Amino acid sequence: MKAILFRQYGAPQVLELTEVEKPAPGEDQVLVKVCAASANPLDWHRMRGKPFLVRLTGGVFKPKNRKLGADIAGRVEAVGKNITEFGPGDEVFGSVGAGSFAEYVCAGEARFVRKPANVSFEAAAAAPVAGLTALQGLRDKGEIRAGQKVLINGASGGVGSFAVQIAKSYGTEVTGVSSTGNLEMVRSIGADHVVDYTQEDFTRNGQHYDLIYDAVGNRSVSDYRRALNPMGICVISGFTNLPRMTGHMIPGPLLSAAGKKKIRGQMTKAAKKDLAVLEELLEAGKVVPLIDRSYPLSEAADAIRYLEMGHARGKVVVTVG
Ligand SMILES: NC(=O)c1ccc[n+]([C@@H]2O[C@H](COP(=O)([O-])OP(=O)(O)OC[C@H]3O[C@@H](n4cnc5c(N)ncnc54)[C@H](OP(=O)(O)O)[C@@H]3O)[C@@H](O)[C@H]2O)c1
Repeated sequence: MKAILFRQYGAPQVLELTEVEKPAPGEDQVLVKVCAASANPLDWHRMRGKPFLVRLTGGVFKPKNRKLGADIAGRVEAVGKNITEFGPGDEVFGSVGAGSFAEYVCAGEARFVRKPANVSFEAAAAAPVAGLTALQGLRDKGEIRAGQKVLINGASGGVGSFAVQIAKSYGTEVTGVSSTGNLEMVRSIGADHVVDYTQEDFTRNGQHYDLIYDAVGNRSVSDYRRALNPMGICVISGFTNLPRMTGHMIPGPLLSAAGKKKIRGQMTKAAKKDLAVLEELLEAGKVVPLIDRSYPLSEAADAIRYLEMGHARGKVVVTVG
């Protein structure tokens, strides 16, 4: 079978469409024929080995795991003898960590849920990492509640476009922040208000929010505190650079412990129960993944190159077969 592998850390040129052995499912595994995958910033961080922190788990000098792609949607081809939930022919989607930029993937059944029949493979593949990040950030870290005023920074990107729709599904009043060209798109996915970050600073326009969800991570802790209501919560999922991240990780918790405004970071977990929540939201049409571009597997390097420019409108999908 064909898979995208990377030889070494570097620019997208290190990605190669390679012939590898088709995997066989272990006793507790599901073999899925991939129909679509999607790209996430995690893929280009891993490919480049940047920031250096990713090499602490991924291999300091060369990558331990040369596969890319976490998000997947496809058809079950075979299952191990202990698998009861799925059988051949079932349509599934989920998050496999790494390896979905390939024709086949083997993973445990906890990694997958059923793909709703009314949702395309491309749309389902767009959902796992970005959707789980937005859901867990808003619900678990952000303690989102109906009637709140919520601001989403980076509302037009992969995570942000899910965050706008999920925040609306909770009955909140949503403000989305994006560049000029994406304002209409952010409105079209449900934002009640929009802020053009090229014209206006959301932390200095006199508005205050109960919940700020930052999928960009480019503002200081004092900026967030200024834009929060007295009991407000800010959740930061986006990564801009190491100095900015350090500036969130150290003063954020200290100031949160000392005052009523909370600044929290987020690490997404591939929880099956949350994939099931996404499945319901997708099936009900409450969340409709926004697909900016689709690339065939052989052009996955172009998909990563485009995503890395940092201005995707929704998700970048890789189609397989
Ligand atoms: N913490 C976690 O566990 C976790 C999990 C998943 C992702 N992440 C991180 O979350 C971030 C977002 O991921 P993603 O998939 O959404 O990335 P993405 O799709 O590449 O996001 C790109 C978006 O960022 C927007 N943007 C760029 N500069 C901006 C600015 N100054 N102000 C507001 N928006 C701006 C762009 O909007 P315009 O084109 O309008 O500028 C574009 O729509 C990444 O840093 C990623 O590494 C973290």
